[in-house]
Amino acid sequence: MKDKLDSNELALWSQFLSELTGMSLNEDKEYLIRERFQGLLKKYQCANFSHLYFMARDPDRGDLREELIDQITTKETSFFRDTAPFEALHRVVFPELLKQCRASGQNRRLKIWSAACSTGQEAYSIAMILHEMGVSPDEYHITATDISRMAIEAAKIGSYNRFEVERGVPPASLERFFLPNSKNWRVKDFLKESLTFQQISLHRPFVLPDRFDLIVCRNVAIYFSPKPREELFGKIFRHLHPDGYLLIGSTETVSDLGNLFCEMRLESRAVFLQANGKRGGLVESKV
Ligand SMILES: C[S@@+](CC[C@H](N)C(=O)[O-])C[C@H]1O[C@@H](n2cnc3c(N)ncnc32)[C@H](O)[C@@H]1O
Repeated sequence: MKDKLDSNELALWSQFLSELTGMSLNEDKEYLIRERFQGLLKKYQCANFSHLYFMARDPDRGDLREELIDQITTKETSFFRDTAPFEALHRVVFPELLKQCRASGQNRRLKIWSAACSTGQEAYSIAMILHEMGVSPDEYHITATDISRMAIEAAKIGSYNRFEVERGVPPASLERFFLPNSKNWRVKDFLKESLTFQQISLHRPFVLPDRFDLIVCRNVAIYFSPKPREELFGKIFRHLHPDGYLLIGSTETVSDLGNLFCEMRLESRAVFLQANGKRGGLVESKV
């Protein structure tokens, strides 16, 4: 394995990766750069990290930059991750949002955005819940996005190994929503019907056609530097329907970002936010 990056190399890489992704990678993350880029050093026959850096800075090396992003991002996820948010969606948030959509009288579809969906488990978990609630696929649409091309390709395919499905999918749901496929389990087509996957960086300007009733942005802002993180929540705010909800990770908060959102906890641990002044019909639970 290549030696530690020196302080100049680390400064260059931190700056570059922050420009690419919004992520904060300071001295204590040196090992991440070193470990995760080993394969690329070899693939591109680079003698050291500076060589790889200058190669990746070449405007014609878009593909290498995609590979750097694939390697440096942490894609840890699972079906129904943390349980409580999905219980809250099922019991409280979706009934409320569906009521609003149905009451609008214009066949308005429920619009959901899984904003850093990794390999798709979060988005498919949401779709499974809506199916279990008996909501027709015509009544909702889930847009699922991630910066990593590799993650989005895997999400579109929707094929998971035994370990991945056993981490969260109850046996009855496995039968209902997945087909065995060699050693893997593949999401059935009917569940994919109301989902679209798209490669989007939350750190760059992006265009999404809709305002969403529910935005799920969990376990990604924790990797961002303060300024990109603030900008990210500003963008999310602008994409959120005035009566919609934002779900963040169970250990996250946005209370340091002024009063854009008001925060509530459902099922004790799930952190939902609404644009300030809008609390819909939900009752804040006591923590
Ligand atoms: C730890 S995973 C979280 C996945 C899922 N939301 C969950 O909570 O299980 C973080 C994801 O954020 C993505 N990510 C990192 N930086 C991003 C950016 N600038 N724009 C969009 N996605 C990003 C990564 O590729 C990764 O898939």
